[in-house]
Amino acid sequence: MFKTLKDFSVNDKRILVRCDFNVPVDDKGNILDDFRIKQTLPTIKYLIENRAKIILMSHLGEPGGKVVPELKLDKVAERLAEYLEISIEKEDDCIGIEVEEQTNKLEAGKILLLENLRFHKEETDNDLDFAKKLSYLGDIYVNDAFGVCHRDQASVTGVPKLLPCCAGLLLEKEIEAMDKLINNPEKPMVAIVGGKKVDTKSKFINSISKVSDWVIISGLIAKEVAEKNIKFEYPEKIVIPVGQLDALDINQDSIKIFQEKISQAKTIVWNGPFGKFEDEKYVAGSLAIAEAIIKSGAFAVVGGGETVEFLNKQSMIDKFSHVSTGGGAMLSYLAGDKLPGIEVLA
Ligand code: 3PG
Ligand code: MG
Repeated sequence: MFKTLKDFSVNDKRILVRCDFNVPVDDKGNILDDFRIKQTLPTIKYLIENRAKIILMSHLGEPGGKVVPELKLDKVAERLAEYLEISIEKEDDCIGIEVEEQTNKLEAGKILLLENLRFHKEETDNDLDFAKKLSYLGDIYVNDAFGVCHRDQASVTGVPKLLPCCAGLLLEKEIEAMDKLINNPEKPMVAIVGGKKVDTKSKFINSISKVSDWVIISGLIAKEVAEKNIKFEYPEKIVIPVGQLDALDINQDSIKIFQEKISQAKTIVWNGPFGKFEDEKYVAGSLAIAEAIIKSGAFAVVGGGETVEFLNKQSMIDKFSHVSTGGGAMLSYLAGDKLPGIEVLA
């Protein structure tokens, strides 16, 4: 197991926190959904209360190693300042002498946010020299970015090799919820896998089938399965929609079949919407699934960027046992993969 924040005295120390502020933004860089920012607040508040010098770092989007103005973190800084009701210092870069000086000048209880890590291609290259430069900015490294733990990148796996390190409160909470799902879940268990791109989900479908009684998959995935002649390990557990599989939403008969399974469940995991939910006309399927899950009273974990965006729009986030900040990371963890960002903390 890894250390947690509570294993360290953070008082007056420079605490370098890897956050996942990779939020959806529009083409002007306006934040469309700030769920990931909100979920990081408990760790930041803990550090403020315990008089740490707080240095936050994150990536946003895929700028490909150069500065992309819409992907700067200024709007993230503003949003954090609003929620925390304190001013936040924002740097124009994430490494360098000047940034290092700022971290040394930082007062206890104050926050400094570094610029988008992926403006340097050394971040995704997992460059050792870049990781070293980041490590000069903190005395202790905290990973609170579950969403990026499947990435072998400098700020995720490089820096914790160079500093005392631990998991933040959000990462701890995420792992606890995931472990509860895969280790002895209360039965029956239903997994619900929406969206498309079977290639990114078939490993998850197979491994979650081991512990689940039913795995409900979306029409688009079912269609790909048929077209590519994919064989699942537990075909008898797979439940698919009826009718036209590539329809923009699932039909009433499919909703009924799914509701019936969901209503019996004691444990549920859901990733990926069931219709083209961006369009109000096609939300009925995803909405019916969400409502059925809530009504079931099961221990329910939901994740994935689009699913969370959908639930946020419907103001339903609070109604689930755990809503994960991870998309790919959640599928990977639940599929039994060892996530490099978590392994390195041990
Ligand atoms: C995510 O959005 O899943 C994480 O922030 C990881 O981002 P990435 O897929 O661009 O590495
Ligand atoms: Mg992504």
